[in-house]
Amino acid sequence: PYGKGGEPGDVPGGSMSDPFARLRRLRASEALRTLVRETTLDAADLVYPIFVTEGQGIRREVPSMPGVFQLTVDRLPYEAEELLQLGIRAVILFGVLPPERKDERGSGAYDPDGIVQRALRELKRTHPELVLIADTCLCEYTSHGHCGLVEDGKVLNDASLPLHAAAALSQVQAGADVVAPSSMMDGVVAAIRSTLNEHGFTDVPILAYSVKYASAFYGPFRDAAQSAPAFGDRRTYQMDPANAREALREAEADVAQGADLLMVKPALAYLDVIRLLRERFPHPLVAYNVSGEYSMVKAAARLGWLDERRTVREILLGIRRAGADLIITYHAKDVARWLKDGSFWEG
Ligand code: PBG
Repeated sequence: PYGKGGEPGDVPGGSMSDPFARLRRLRASEALRTLVRETTLDAADLVYPIFVTEGQGIRREVPSMPGVFQLTVDRLPYEAEELLQLGIRAVILFGVLPPERKDERGSGAYDPDGIVQRALRELKRTHPELVLIADTCLCEYTSHGHCGLVEDGKVLNDASLPLHAAAALSQVQAGADVVAPSSMMDGVVAAIRSTLNEHGFTDVPILAYSVKYASAFYGPFRDAAQSAPAFGDRRTYQMDPANAREALREAEADVAQGADLLMVKPALAYLDVIRLLRERFPHPLVAYNVSGEYSMVKAAARLGWLDERRTVREILLGIRRAGADLIITYHAKDVARWLKDGSFWEG
């Protein structure tokens, strides 16, 4: 009954009695739209980032990220409770250090009693069912703010690897379920894998920040984590936003070194890269909807220029449609609340 487009009077997608395709039929009611919806979103697909800071009883809002707070270790169990109630099952932890606690070698990153290690121990004790992902990097702990050791103004690759491996090991010993190296040092996944294996942690997965671009969208995060580089920028290790094929080489390298999950970061300006990796790799794919992407929506919503809920829905669906399985997002709690009260899909 369907036209093939070859007969006179035939229109592709139409039928004998109906000359053109009536795509609006399936959009006529909320029930029909729900029935034919191709992309879903569930609170269990979301990972919530947490900034852990020194001190006690502190819940300090990040100025450029309304609704996001730096928390002290004692506040974490309450946060975990809230997340689990909302159906969010995973967090990624970042440490925030005062400048006087930072040094050239980023020793806070692999201090067995460091801020993230204490956070991991506390959360593992109080909420063992929450998946604890530890961001493994040096930039939050180095006085110069770079993700590796610096010599003569250059960020060293191989000399930095043992420090990243030590950081990952101390995080796993403190209770991390997954480690996520974000430094973009070549070989960092292999270095971490072999160190974890040597210490008997063969079962701890690595989430590789495989494709991480040198992005302006990290601006608010560097505020939140106080991790902006003191000189220069990260373009000698993070990827050039102009490149997509190179993303395949990054992902291949990490897979060869033993990465279990792959990440693309940021998400919105790189949906093509998410799709590319989805098509080439069977690994679970994670997209990081980064700080700047969050702040843009928050700022416009505050000004009354965008409808926050509908904008966030469209953004997260776009990231999922591109091929991401999981999304790390600062919107996670709001989204989980909207999913819970049923408003997420409205309007
Ligand atoms: C670096 C790191 C960065 C983010 C997470 N880990 C960025 C950077 O400063 O290069 C950014 C996350 C965000 O913007 O939300 N270890």
